[in-house]
Amino acid sequence: MKGIILAGGAGSRLYPLTLVASKQLQPVYDKPMVYYPLTTLLEAGIREIALISTPQDLPRFRQLLGTGERLGVRFEYIEQPHPGGIAQAFLLAADFVGTDPVCLILGDNIFYGATGFNETIRDFKLGATVFGYSVRDPERYGVIELDPKGKIIGIIEKPTTFVSPYAVPGFYVYDGKVVERTRNLKPSPRGELEITDLNKSYLADGVLNVHLMPRGVAWLDAGTSSSLHDASAFIQAIEKRQSIKIGCPEEAAFRQGFISRMDYEKLIGSLPKCEYRSYLENTLSNTF
Ligand code: DAU
Repeated sequence: MKGIILAGGAGSRLYPLTLVASKQLQPVYDKPMVYYPLTTLLEAGIREIALISTPQDLPRFRQLLGTGERLGVRFEYIEQPHPGGIAQAFLLAADFVGTDPVCLILGDNIFYGATGFNETIRDFKLGATVFGYSVRDPERYGVIELDPKGKIIGIIEKPTTFVSPYAVPGFYVYDGKVVERTRNLKPSPRGELEITDLNKSYLADGVLNVHLMPRGVAWLDAGTSSSLHDASAFIQAIEKRQSIKIGCPEEAAFRQGFISRMDYEKLIGSLPKCEYRSYLENTLSNTF
């Protein structure tokens, strides 16, 4: 399974923060936002990752994340010249994806807890899988419509009337047909290739799976000043209480066995003396 992080967009809701650094590079408590979705992919065992962003921001992501070698993975960087929709990611990354299964994560989505992503990826065969997450304000998202037996019958992007409380978070898993399917999509009235239309094409063919996320999973999006602040406060609360870090790619790469203990020690040694480095040093003796 390959992975894509979509980290473009204008970030206009965070203006003026986004004048010089894109939304996904903003700090969420003690790390850049993109560390969180990146760690989600690493924890799911994904080692080939394409990051898509704007021509202005891509060099900064490259500077931040490098080739991936120090984490035992491979990063590829792809430009999105204009925000043509979330599904456009598959056209931009067509060569990277080929006909392999791939998952897409939005660069401003933060997940914590027993999401079920790993099991989904491990057991994934065909079609597409999306998730459902109960929220107070489903009208802001793509929303799943279920029949009385709990079977999915529709997905509606930003519904104006109540459909269900289940929003679709920005983590999607697709089979090797995704590029071809995206090529057959028509742009929406707002001129974008909509992820919801892609998901609907799988639903129409009876191959869209939905996993409702259990209670206890946190899904945060950090696209507005207020939600960015909430996300920071949430991460801080957990990290302080448990003495662990959420969204730490170096630790994830080590725990996944992508890098040896020796390489991990070398990587830690290359960091400036700071709280982040001390944390990583501690992980060498913590086995939990
Ligand atoms: O967060 C989950 C929701 O994300 C889903 O429930 C919706 O179905 C899906 O349409 C999307 O809704 P948003 O209103 O959040 O989409 P937005 O246009 O804000 O894009 C989400 C992120 O993707 C944002 O951080 C910027 C990035 N993006 C978006 C577009 C349209 C790109 O990098 N390129 C793009 O062309």
